[in-house]
This record gives sequence, structure tokens and C-alpha cells, in this order.
Amino acid sequence: MDDDREALRAHLTARYGVSPELPEKLPGVASLARMANHRTIRSYAARPVDPALVRVLAAVALSAPTKSDLQQADIVIVESPEQRAALAALLPDNPWAAKAPAFAVFCGNNARQRRVHELRGHPFVNDHLDAFFNAAVDAGIVLSAFVTAAEAVGLTTTPISAIRNHPHAVADILALPAHVFPVAGLCIGWPAHGGSISPRLPLETFVHTDRHESSGLDGQIAEYDSRRNLTRPYPARRADDVFGTGQPYTWSEDKARQYGQPERQGWGEFVISRGFKLV
Ligand SMILES: Cc1cc2nc3c(=O)[nH]c(=O)nc-3n(C[C@H](O)[C@H](O)[C@H](O)COP(=O)(O)O)c2cc1C
Repeated sequence: MDDDREALRAHLTARYGVSPELPEKLPGVASLARMANHRTIRSYAARPVDPALVRVLAAVALSAPTKSDLQQADIVIVESPEQRAALAALLPDNPWAAKAPAFAVFCGNNARQRRVHELRGHPFVNDHLDAFFNAAVDAGIVLSAFVTAAEAVGLTTTPISAIRNHPHAVADILALPAHVFPVAGLCIGWPAHGGSISPRLPLETFVHTDRHESSGLDGQIAEYDSRRNLTRPYPARRADDVFGTGQPYTWSEDKARQYGQPERQGWGEFVISRGFKLV
């Protein structure tokens, strides 16, 4: 118990620079410590992941809450080597997608809801952004629950939003019907090393009391940039050919460069082509 409290405090300090004060009584502290110790690790031991275990994790993840009990998330577990290779070929910047012992794609599914309307003979009169948004949120919640469940059994995972760079090809490979769309892939494997905790912006950047407060944001970003560079500096600079070599390289520089270049510009067109009306 004391060890778990110390572990939780240490993980949160590694994450945010400072740990919030822990209440004296903290039920479930071992689970909290494990969740706070979350790490995305992108290299995997040469050990298979039992398909039965992946199905159990899927069942646990799909036990997460779901908007209005609509149950709008699907998991496509990709076992066929041919399909794995076809997906991996779309992801040259994510070589871990080819190497992970197991791989799944988390999808939002608004097709079931529409079928329920057909079955019951009531018109679907809410065909606007909410239909897409609710399914996307459900898929994200299930993805997160799967990551937590996988880490509870000692696996590591890497979500892959890069599959959305080629959504039409992914939809073809996985035979996704209309109103079903990929949110993220997920590499699943036994970690090849311990990895490390990836620091986040300070807790007060995200957690507000009563009123949203962002007046300190610029200072928080500056603090985070330097704290992060102490423990987790970027191994490589992004697009120096475009942005130059003058600036010190930090999280904010990396993120501004990432979204300073066109990315995933066909995504909206894909979503509309799957039958969604976004307004
Ligand atoms: C929705 C989502 C999509 C992601 N897409 C990718 C991806 O395409 N490639 C990748 O290597 N990591 C991806 N990640 C992993 C993040 O880069 C990682 O979570 C982040 O750097 C923080 O590290 P941590 O998870 O170890 O705390 C994704 C994570 C999420 C939640």
C-alpha cells in the first residue's frame, strides 16, 4: 500500500513535474499507480500474443460506458498476414505497425443505429454532426479502455491514427460498410523494454475548478518545453528544410511544425463519402 502510494506519487511527478497531494485514504491505489504509469512502447519482444487474450481485452474494453447505450464502437482484429501487410504498407512512418505481434483497428459505427431505425420503422431524423461525433467518441473511449486493460496484463500498445492518412484504402482492406469509419489502429505486444513516462503539460493546464482558466498557458508551455527536454527530448527535428535550424527544438516547436504542414486533408471528404452529413 505504501509502496503503491509512493509509486503513484512518483509516476504523477514524472508526468506533470509535481504530484497532486494524495488523500490519506486512497482505495484502489495500486490500480491508480498502474494507470499513471502508462507508457506507449513501440518495440515488442519476440513473443506472440494469444488471440484469445486479445478477444478478452476487446470484451473488457467494450464494457466501457457508451453514449445513450448506443454501443457505437467496433474493433476489427487483424489476424490475416496479407491484411496486416496491406495495412503496414500504408504506414511507412510507423514501422512498429508491421512488427507488432497483434493489431486491431478501432472504428466508430453509426450503421447499427441506422439499421435499428429501419427495423423499428422510425425515421432517423438526427442525421447531422452528432451522428459522427458520438460514434467517434465511443470508439475513443473503447480504445482507451483497451489500452488500460492491455497494460493490466503486461502488454504494451501503440495507437495508430496514421491509418486515417489513407482512410479509403483502410476501409477497403477491412471491408468497412457505410457509416463505419476507422478512428485508430492499435499495435499490441509484449514490451521489449521498460520504456519511460512521457511528461505532460502541468496539471493546472488541463484541470480547472468552476471556471475555465487559461491565462497562464504561455508560461505553462514554456515550463513544459524545458522540463520535457530534460527527460524526453525529441530524438529528431521535424522538417528543418521547411522551418529552418535556428530554433531550439521543443515540444511546442515540434507540434507547431507538425500542424504547420498539410496533414490528413482528405479526412472530411472520406467521412462524407461514408454517408455522414456533418452539419
Ligand atoms: C488517438 C491516438 C492516435 C495516436 N496515433 C499514433 C500514431 O499514429 N503513431 C504513433 O507512433 N503513436 C501514436 N499515438 C501515441 C501517442 O504518440 C502517445 O500516446 C503520446 O506520444 C504520449 O505518449 P504516452 O502514450 O507514452 O504517454 C497515438 C495516440 C492516440 C491516443
